[in-house]
Amino acid sequence: MYRKKARAKSWDDKVRIVNDSFLRCINDKFFSRYFYKNLFFLKPNLEDYFKNTDMEHQEKAIMNGLKFLLGFLDGKDANSRSQIVRIAQTHGHLALNIHPHSYYYWIEAIVMTAKKCDPEWFDDLEYYWREVVSFPVSFIISNYYVKHPK
Ligand code: HEM
Repeated sequence: MYRKKARAKSWDDKVRIVNDSFLRCINDKFFSRYFYKNLFFLKPNLEDYFKNTDMEHQEKAIMNGLKFLLGFLDGKDANSRSQIVRIAQTHGHLALNIHPHSYYYWIEAIVMTAKKCDPEWFDDLEYYWREVVSFPVSFIISNYYVKHPK
């Protein structure tokens, strides 16, 4: 009974809770390093996509990506929106060609990493992170086959 009540939160509440968790996470300068470690642990062949990538640079880029992802949630931040639209294009089948089924692992790796890095972690955060992040990630996935005008 108690658990049911505790998890009956509005979307806005969950977004706020996840944003707060992310702000605690970014105090850990190894967040993005752990994230890629977790991603490649969960799905080793995803590492092939990064064969020619400067991972030090990518570790910074993904932190910006996460800020845009969270900034995309309420639809009010025009810059986050255009960045997520751009990331959706660069990850689509005509560009980086990240197959939609890979994003499942991406979400799980984020949850694992937040769990490790957030010093105030509590169990239900796992559900909030997964739910909140699934909306912008679904948006990126849905653009996989879209042909964007140059
Ligand atoms: C399993 C899913 C994903 C894979 C395999 C993947 C893979 C990649 C690869 C290969 C690159 C290019 C690295 C280079 O420049 O060499 C990249 C860049 C990037 N990815 Fe992903 N990605 C995934 C999901 C996401 C998601 C959900 C986001 C959302 C924030 C994201 C944000 C970025 C950003 C910000 C860059 C830097 C380049 C740019 O700004 O376009 N990625 N990704």
